[in-house]
Amino acid sequence: MGQSLVIVNSADIMDEFDKQGANYSDRPVLQMAGELVGFNNGMGLLRYGPRLRAYRKHFSRFVGPNKPIQSHQPLIEEETRKFLRRTVENSGDLSHNLRKLAGSIILNLTYGYKVQDGQDDFVDLIEHDNENFGSAVKAGAFLVDVLPWLKYLPEWLPGTGFLKLAREWRKTSDATVDTPYAYTESQMAAGTALTSFVSTGLEDDEANHSPEYLRDLKWTAVSMYSGGADTTVSTEYAFFLAMVLFPEVQKKAQAEIDAVVGNDRLPTFADMPHLPYVNAVVTETLRWNCVAPSGIPHAAVEDGYINGYFVPKGAIILANLWNMLHDPETYPNPFKFDPERHLGPNPQRDVRRICFGFGRRVCPGMHLADASVYSCVAMSLAVFNIEKALDSNGIPITPVHENTDGLISFPKPFECTVKPRSEKAYSLITES
Ligand code: HEM
Repeated sequence: MGQSLVIVNSADIMDEFDKQGANYSDRPVLQMAGELVGFNNGMGLLRYGPRLRAYRKHFSRFVGPNKPIQSHQPLIEEETRKFLRRTVENSGDLSHNLRKLAGSIILNLTYGYKVQDGQDDFVDLIEHDNENFGSAVKAGAFLVDVLPWLKYLPEWLPGTGFLKLAREWRKTSDATVDTPYAYTESQMAAGTALTSFVSTGLEDDEANHSPEYLRDLKWTAVSMYSGGADTTVSTEYAFFLAMVLFPEVQKKAQAEIDAVVGNDRLPTFADMPHLPYVNAVVTETLRWNCVAPSGIPHAAVEDGYINGYFVPKGAIILANLWNMLHDPETYPNPFKFDPERHLGPNPQRDVRRICFGFGRRVCPGMHLADASVYSCVAMSLAVFNIEKALDSNGIPITPVHENTDGLISFPKPFECTVKPRSEKAYSLITES
C-alpha cells in the first residue's frame, strides 16, 4: 500500500541506524492503538519530538544512566525476598508470582503504591489495559490500520465494531493513567505518601508545573508499568525455564554463590561485582529469550541513507532483534544457554546493545530491568533448586522452549518444581 518497510537483520546495520538515531527515532502512526484508543500518548508510541524528550528526561531523572540505581536497590531486594516467600508457599504459580514481583517493584517506585497480597485492583486495571494494548498493536488485526479513513465512519454502520471497542479501551486507558496518579496525589495531601517517581515530580520546585508538565509526568508514569512489567516477567520466567533445561548452568551458578556469599545470607547488590557467572546468566537470559523479537517499530523522520541504501521519509524500520541475538556467526550454537560466551578475555557481542533497541528510543528502563532480573536470579539460585516436574508416573517432563507471538514474547507456560535447596535455605526464605 505504498508503505516502505525496512527490516534490519544485522546488529552492524542496527549500529548504523543508531549512529543516525535522531533521524530514525520516530514511531509509525497506528490508527487503532494510537489515534483511536489514545495509546500514542504513552512513551512507546509517542511521535519523536519535544514531548518525547520531556518523557525521557522524566524517566532518566528516576531510572536513567545518571541516576544511580542504588537508591532503588533496597526496595528491589525487599520485593524479591517476598517473591521467594510466595514461591515457597505456592511454587505451582511461578508466573503469577513473577508478575507480582515486577508489578510490586514498578508500582512502588512509580506511585509509592504497595501491591496487595492476593487480588489487587490497580494491578488488575493496569494489566487489563496492557492486554488491550497488546491486542490493539497486533499486526494485521485491524483494517483501519491499513485504511485510515475507516476511522471516520459512523459507529452505527455495520462492520465498525472496532470503533466501539476503541472507545471502551480508551476508557480503561484513561482510568489507568488517572487512578494510580490520583492515589499518589491523595497520599501527598494526607502527608502519608512514600517517595516515588510521581511524588518527586510533583514536588520538584525547579519545574514549571504547567498542564503539559503534569500531563507528561502522568503519561511517563504509566509508561513505566506498560514498558517494564511484561518485559521483566518474560525475562525472569525464561530464566527459570533455562535452569530446568540446563541444570549444569544452575549448578555452576550455585557453586559461585556458595563460594562468594556462603549460605548464611541471601545475595545482595553488594555481591554483584563478585558474581561474574551469575551476571553472565542474566546476560545469557536476555539473549536466549528475546523479549521484544522485532523491537518496537521505528519510523524515518527524513529521507536518508544507511550503508548506501536509500531509506525514504516515513519508512517503517523493524529491528529483527531475535535474529541478531540468535545469529550463529555472532553467537555460535545460539540455542544453547551458555553464560560462558559472555566471559573471558574475548566475550561475544554485547547483548545489551541489541536487546534494548536503538537510537533515541533505546529502552529507558534498562538499568531497572537489569537490577530487577539480577536480584531475582541471584536470590532464586541461592535458595532454590529448579528442576523438571514429574508426570503421574514419576517421569521427568522436559519442557519445550517455545515463545508466544506479539510485541512482547513470553516463554509458553511450562511445568517445573521450585524447592528450597536445604533446610537452611528454607529458613533464609521464611525468616528474611
Ligand atoms: C528485560 C527487560 C526489558 C527489555 C528486554 C526491554 C526492551 C525494550 C526494547 C527492545 C524497547 C524498544 C526500543 C526501540 O524502540 O528501539 C524498549 C522500549 C521501552 N522500554 Fe524497555 N525493556 C525492558 C524493561 C523495561 C523496564 C523495566 C521499563 C520501565 C521501567 C521499560 C520501559 C520502556 C519504555 C517506556 C520504552 C519505550 C521507549 C521509547 O519509545 O522511547 N523497559 N524496551
